[in-house]
Amino acid sequence: MSEKATLNLDGKPYEFPVITGTENEKGIDIGKLRAQTGYVTFDEGYKNTGATSSGITFLNGEKGILRYRGYAIEDLAEKSSFTEVMYLLLYGELPTAEELRKFENQLTQHTLVHEDLVKVFEVFPTGSHPMGQLMTQLSALSSFYPESLNPQKSPDQLNLTIIRLLAKMPTICAMIQKKGKGHPVLYPQNRFDYVSNFLYMTFGNVTEEYTPDPVIVDAMNKLLILHADHEQNCSTSTVRIVGSSHANLYASIAAGVAALWGPRHGGANQEVLEMLEHIRDIDKGDVKKVVAEAKDKKRLLFGFGHRVYKNFDPRAKILKVACDNVLAKLGVNDPLLAIAKELEAAALEDPYFIERKLYPNVDFYSGLIYKAMGFPTPMFTVLFALGRLPGWVSQWKELRGKNEDIGRPRQIYTGPTLRPFVAIKERK
Ligand code: ACO
Repeated sequence: MSEKATLNLDGKPYEFPVITGTENEKGIDIGKLRAQTGYVTFDEGYKNTGATSSGITFLNGEKGILRYRGYAIEDLAEKSSFTEVMYLLLYGELPTAEELRKFENQLTQHTLVHEDLVKVFEVFPTGSHPMGQLMTQLSALSSFYPESLNPQKSPDQLNLTIIRLLAKMPTICAMIQKKGKGHPVLYPQNRFDYVSNFLYMTFGNVTEEYTPDPVIVDAMNKLLILHADHEQNCSTSTVRIVGSSHANLYASIAAGVAALWGPRHGGANQEVLEMLEHIRDIDKGDVKKVVAEAKDKKRLLFGFGHRVYKNFDPRAKILKVACDNVLAKLGVNDPLLAIAKELEAAALEDPYFIERKLYPNVDFYSGLIYKAMGFPTPMFTVLFALGRLPGWVSQWKELRGKNEDIGRPRQIYTGPTLRPFVAIKERK
């Protein structure tokens, strides 16, 4: 017999089906709640709302588990490449060597962007934030591929739209960094793999040969894999809700970039680095004072806390080790790393942080690695977006494949009740 949940309202019992996921997570299907009872559920910030069922990413915040399509994030970060993970998220299985070769080849064939898109950069004032530029460029892509406005018409069209987006993203991200510096952009080179090509376009120069450093290529693969998906977070939910109106893929992803930009979400990686610099320069390294101010709600510790991880963020664990390794291999001695470690230790032994289950999140150490690699701080959230893109795209594809209902939450209205209209000359 299928499980049911009983709700008693106004002295009457109502039954609702219980749905169970493959990891035994349970949800009460309240789809008919309003029709049957006149009530809606109220869950500000969607803390307890399952907005969809999804077969892509499994996360258990209490146990610190993160898996893509059933594979542990620790294994993927250690043993696979970003393109393998892209394939896994998109198509559901790890690729064979031949499938991966074909997939990488497809990506290589679509890395160039239309020259008119390069001209779009000219309209941004110097110093424009890279995330604003990324949003604009991604939504502009829809103008260059009008057939992508409804890619659902055929599976081939859908796949081409996805491949184009994944292939052009590193080119656009690298151009943003180059334009920020006032340097000429570099065009993609087919001799490089996906990640090396991005590093070449970002750190290469027209004036000299460039060979990507294997240490940086390896670290970049890891960082991108760790960011690749995270089930129904703020930006992914945004992509899904925009996609649910049948908006095109490029517009939906641009909306995800907007959501990611916020400092409570992906924008936190930029904030972490600026916070560490502030602690070094203004607070004179006084970490205890910073923790005390955070407890007094005078400041937020960026890179701490997470909506779903209430034990530890497995990505942060991997990144802490990676950060030590990358800085050592690159011979970078960054005093900000010592401040970060001191801050983490001080916070982790403080009852305020212990009681609230606040642990370092993925953004806490990623910025230090990006900085060691040579990325300017305002680019950090763009790098997050580069990593998250395959997750967003896979979630969008899953949603459209299921032809999910349009996302349309309800509300509890708290404004004025009906009142008579007052003519303008009678208003006081
Ligand atoms: N520093 C200090 N106090 C904090 C922090 C923090 N970073 N995060 C949460 N708290 C406190 C809150 O003030 C609250 O205290 P209270 O119980 O006394 O009111 C309590 O911990 C619970 O916090 P909420 O804000 O209710 O937790 P929520 O799940 O809504 O928010 C969030 C999670 C947004 C990530 C929050 O922890 C935060 O703002 N952190 C800093 C920004 C950050 O690093 N964001 C990146 C998250 S990871 C990602 O998106 C990629």
